[in-house]
Amino acid sequence: MATTITITGAGGQIGYALLFRIAAGDMLGAREKVRLRLLEIPQGLASAEGAALELQDGAFDLLEHVEVTDDPAVAFDGCNIALLVGARPRGPGMERGDLLAANAGIFGPQGAAIAAHAASDVRISVVGNPANTNALITANAAEGVPADRFTALTRLDENRARAQLALALEAPVSGIRHVAIWGNHSATQFPDVSHATVDGYPVVEALAERVGHVPTWLEQTFIPGVAKRGAEIIEVRGSSSVASAANATIDHVRDWVHGTDWTSAGVVSHGEYGVPDGLVCSFPVRSVDGRWEIIEGLEWDAWARQRVDASVAELVDERETVRSLGML
Ligand code: NAD
Ligand code: LMR
Repeated sequence: MATTITITGAGGQIGYALLFRIAAGDMLGAREKVRLRLLEIPQGLASAEGAALELQDGAFDLLEHVEVTDDPAVAFDGCNIALLVGARPRGPGMERGDLLAANAGIFGPQGAAIAAHAASDVRISVVGNPANTNALITANAAEGVPADRFTALTRLDENRARAQLALALEAPVSGIRHVAIWGNHSATQFPDVSHATVDGYPVVEALAERVGHVPTWLEQTFIPGVAKRGAEIIEVRGSSSVASAANATIDHVRDWVHGTDWTSAGVVSHGEYGVPDGLVCSFPVRSVDGRWEIIEGLEWDAWARQRVDASVAELVDERETVRSLGML
C-alpha cells in the first residue's frame, strides 16, 4: 500500500523543492510507494500542474499517482501525511507573526477537511507561518483527530543551530547532537545548547575553548543568529528560505515515521515544563513507534527559564489574537 501525502501550496516555492525529493524516497525511504495530492488555490493551480508534469518526467519508481486539485475534500481524501505549506511568506522587515491575519484563515477549513476526509492514521506538519499558531488553529478545527497528530516545523531552527555550532567548533555537523529548540518558530525562540554534545563531549565545554565567554557568545551571536536566520535569508536572497525549509520538512517527517531519540518539533502541550495546555510549542522530542514524545526532566537555569517563558508568552499572545479574530 502506498502512502498518500497531501502537500498544500504545492505550486509554490517550498512545494517545488519538496515534491521531487518525496518522489525520490528521501522522506519515507527507498521502498515506500507514494501517492501525491497537490492542493492549491485557483491562482496556483497552473504552477502545481506544471510540477505534476515534471513529476511524470522524473519517472520515479516510487511514485504511484499525482493529483492536482483546488478542493480540500479531494486533496485530503485518504491522506496519511499532510504537509501544510500553503500560506503567504513574509517579506523584508516583517516578523512571522505579522502573517497571522493573512494566513490564519487558511488553516481552520483545512483542519475541518482533514477531520472529514483523511485516513485514521493521518499526521500533520504545518510549515506555513506563523507555523505554531497555524498548527493550533488546524488542530482546533479537526474535531476527532488526536492532538498528537499535529505538529509545527521547528526542525529548520534545529538544523540551523547545529550548523552554527559545527562552524564555531570547526567540527562536522554530524557530530553535534541534542540541541533543543523551545517555544515559537519566531525571533523569540530559545535554541538551547545546555544538553548538546559534540562527538559525545559537552558543547558548552567545547565552546569555552573557542569563543571565549560562552554566555556572551550564546546571547549575542548564537541565539540571535539562529532565531533571526530566516530574516537574514530574506535579506540576502530576496525571498524566504525554500530548499532548507523543504529539507527540514523531510527530516521532520522521516524522523516522525522512522523514529529518533532526539529532535525538536512544535507539538501540542499538555503542560510539560509549565507550557500552558493546548499551545503548540517547540520542545525536544523523541519519536517512538511513530508517535512524538516530549523529552521530560531536562534541567534549566533561571536564564533559560526566562527565555522559554518569553517565547511561550508570545504563543499565548498569538492564541489571543486568533481568538479575537474568531479563528479559535
Ligand atoms: P510561496 O508563496 O512560494 O508558496 C505558497 C503557495 O501556497 C502559493 O503557491 C499559494 O498559491 C499557495 N496557497 C495559498 N493559500 C493556499 C490555500 N488556502 N490552500 C492551498 N494553497 C495555498 O511560499 P513558500 O516560499 O513556499 O512558503 C510557504 C510558507 O512556508 C510561508 O508561510 C513561509 O513563511 C513558510 N515557511 C516556513 C518555514 C518553517 O520553518 N516553518 C520555513 C520557510 C518558509
Ligand atoms: C524561515 O525560518 O526561514 C521561515 O520561517 C521563513 C521566514 O519568514 O523566516
